[in-house]
Parts: sequence; C-alpha cells; structure tokens
Amino acid sequence: MRVASQQDLATIVALDQDTFPDHWSESQWLTYLNQSNRYIVTLIGDEKPVGYAVFSILFDEAELLRIGVLPQFQGAGIGHRLLQSSINVLHELGTKRLLLEVRQSNIAAIRLYKSLGFSEDGVRKGYYPLLQGSGREDAILMSK
Ligand SMILES: CC(C)(COP(=O)(O)OP(=O)(O)OC[C@H]1O[C@@H](n2cnc3c(N)ncnc32)[C@H](O)[C@@H]1OP(=O)(O)O)[C@@H](O)C(=O)NCCC(=O)NCCS
Repeated sequence: MRVASQQDLATIVALDQDTFPDHWSESQWLTYLNQSNRYIVTLIGDEKPVGYAVFSILFDEAELLRIGVLPQFQGAGIGHRLLQSSINVLHELGTKRLLLEVRQSNIAAIRLYKSLGFSEDGVRKGYYPLLQGSGREDAILMSK
C-alpha cells in the first residue's frame, strides 16, 4: 500500500471507472489528490494498482469516502489489506476515530468493515438512490 499523489490521477480515474457504476470525475479526484491536508488517497498493488481508497480528515477524525478493488481481484483479501494499512497510516497522522457510510445492500463491504472492528451506529433512511431502477436505499453508519 502507498499514499497516492497527483501523478496517480489517471490510474485512479481508470480504477474508479472500472469499479463503480457511479464513478467520480477527474476534477473530483484532483481535489482529493491536491488537498493532502484534508484528504488522503491510498493505492494497493505493486506494478499496477488494483485497489484504492480515499478518506477525508478533520482534526482527529477520518471518514472513508470510497474504497474499491477491481472486480477481477475482489474476494482475495486485497480490500482488507488496503483498508488495514490505510488505517495504520491515518493513526500515524493522528486519527483517533474512523467513520463511514455504506449501502445496506453492500454485503461484501459491510463484512469487510466489521472484520476490521467497525460497528453500526445507526441508519440514514433512503440516503442513496438505487444503482439500478428508481427508488432509494438506506445507508448504514459505522465507526471505530
Ligand atoms: C468492498 C470491496 C472494497 C472489498 O474488497 P475485497 O478485496 O473484495 O474484500 P476482501 O477479499 O478483503 O474481503 C473482505 C470481506 O468481505 C467479504 N467479501 C468479499 N467479497 C464478497 C462477496 N462478493 N460477497 C460477500 N462477502 C464478500 C469477505 O468474505 C471478507 O469478509 P471476512 O473478513 O468476514 O471473511 C470490494 O468488494 C469492492 O471494490 N466492491 C465494489 C466497490 C464497493 O462497493 N466499495 C465499498 C463502498 S465505497
């Protein structure tokens, strides 16, 4: 795992497009990469990154904004390694509390977060638009 820089912009944009149907724009990623006092972006994979995460940092709290592993590499422990190592870096930077929101249908992500010690704090009803079709789904709020 390593902390990404502006030079990784194209890599991260491509990873995000290949991982999420509702991927983020280049300018959004540039904001995250450019403001290293407010955001941290991490990458996993030696030669060619296969996973990434981005956190916002405010004082001693950090929020996981997004984590992704390329579909063909999912389920092999990479997300777990990436998130654990990213949390280690955040702790070194002074983070005491970690927060996140996750779609209630995202079983893999919820298992990942629980396996790393996150617990459920509550629910935001109808927070996310459904990825397919119309309607909305709840967000689960988690922290550790
Ligand atoms: C969520 C995600 C980052 C997890 O990364 P990963 O490398 O696939 O996860 P790991 O192999 O490290 O597994 C972590 C846990 O999730 C579970 N898991 C992984 N894929 C799963 C699946 N398809 N179904 C159910 N559980 C799954 C694993 O069993 C493991 O749980 P355990 O620790 O209790 O055994 C990855 O699946 C992903 O990129 N998904 C699409 C993007 C996304 O939804 N991101 C999260 C919201 S921002």
